[in-house]
Amino acid sequence: MKITVIGLGYLGATHAVAMAELGHDVIGIEANPQKLADLQNGIVPFYEPGLDEALKNVIAKGNIKFKADHDEESRQADLHFLCVGTPQLPGSYAANTEYLHSAVKALAPYLRQDAVVAGKSTVPVGTSAILTQVLADAAGFAPHLAWNPEFLREGTALEDSLRPDRIVIGVNDEVSEQALRKVYKKILDHGTPFLVTDIPTAELVKVAANSFLATKISFINAMAEIAEVSGADAVALAEAIGYDERIGNKFLRNGIGFGGGCLPKDIRAFMARAQELGVGKAVDFLADVDDVNLRRRARVVDLLNRELGADLSGKRVLVLGAAFKPDSDDLRDSPAIAVAKLIKVTGATVVVHDPISLDHVRAQNPDFVAEQDLALAATGADAVVLATEWAQYREGHIPADLGKVVANKLVIDGRNALKVEKWQQAGWRLIALGRNVEATA
Ligand SMILES: NC(=O)c1ccc[n+]([C@@H]2O[C@H](COP(=O)([O-])OP(=O)(O)OC[C@H]3O[C@@H](n4cnc5c(N)ncnc54)[C@H](O)[C@@H]3O)[C@@H](O)[C@H]2O)c1
Repeated sequence: MKITVIGLGYLGATHAVAMAELGHDVIGIEANPQKLADLQNGIVPFYEPGLDEALKNVIAKGNIKFKADHDEESRQADLHFLCVGTPQLPGSYAANTEYLHSAVKALAPYLRQDAVVAGKSTVPVGTSAILTQVLADAAGFAPHLAWNPEFLREGTALEDSLRPDRIVIGVNDEVSEQALRKVYKKILDHGTPFLVTDIPTAELVKVAANSFLATKISFINAMAEIAEVSGADAVALAEAIGYDERIGNKFLRNGIGFGGGCLPKDIRAFMARAQELGVGKAVDFLADVDDVNLRRRARVVDLLNRELGADLSGKRVLVLGAAFKPDSDDLRDSPAIAVAKLIKVTGATVVVHDPISLDHVRAQNPDFVAEQDLALAATGADAVVLATEWAQYREGHIPADLGKVVANKLVIDGRNALKVEKWQQAGWRLIALGRNVEATA
């Protein structure tokens, strides 16, 4: 099929490459000149394992191209995917849907009456109905607009796009359903569950899924708060409850919580939208989910104060990891950066290490010492905080190597990802969120 993908960030660039890999002819439209130039040169403008190679492959095959704007070629497309951002509005919990409005207005002059527009961005329920009207006014006919929420995870984005655990489409008409069945045919042929719903359900599926995941993480983090004051162990607790299939053991590791460009803004936008619909009470609990999450970030500073004293000025703290999760360079609402900022406020010198995203750290947080060399980063540190569980921090000889250069062998495991015994054997005092590891050592 001939398709366009509008907005080439973490979601859109991955989706465009995945569609080209499936054999479609793809035109990617990106408003940011730097990102566009990178993509045109075969460079993915962010870190996503495997995506660079896949991009080069589809460029070489000739079935993908990138442009700043639509032109007559867009009119040949049978399907247009909307992948622009829907960030949190400043000063509000609500989502900013203005980029979607601009995107459909720019598309309208090039939209064929029989072509289908499929939104993939995460939106407040009801957005598609508004966009249908905007598009109809601009195009002069009733468009085929569908919603097709995206569930990819940064770090495994391409794999998730090509082998998703389900595809959900919300449609109003047969034309949209057939176009989406056709574009995903190769994936559906593998037996991938395919759910066809009305549009509000499809819009809600994504925010409901993210709210559930956020709640699960905050639930175990709330248990961690209880464990810390009662001498219990939240890691053992998670394992024990996780054996119950109804609960499951995934997304149940306590730590400094969730972040990134999706979960925090999605639960807030959901609260704002529910309020507008007069059913705010239904998702009031998400405010607690958000609060628990933010409290766990502050817990790290409490522990540093407990261990190093109330005044941290003059102390040097190494934060391991900056991205919101491993295998990503995404710093949006990153718990690691939030923790580093909280430590900085106390007057300590904050050194940040991350395998991939230090350029972003330098650009966005000039207050931190961003050091690429791990041994240099650790030199003279009074404490080390594991904030993002990159594999390189968990494996190898890190406890012994860092132990040689730090001023004080104190490590706070903010992700419950370190091998406790290994660190203790190397002479470290290890404090893990939600557990009293010294008692178990
Ligand atoms: N990042 C993820 O893992 C993920 C997963 C699922 C869903 N989502 C949702 O997908 C949407 C996009 O997220 P993202 O992380 O890719 O955001 P992003 O900010 O990385 O990408 C959005 C891109 O759209 C471009 N853009 C904005 N307006 C445009 C226009 N009119 N024409 C062309 N390009 C335009 C921006 O320049 C930017 O590159 C959001 O709604 C998000 O919630 C993201």
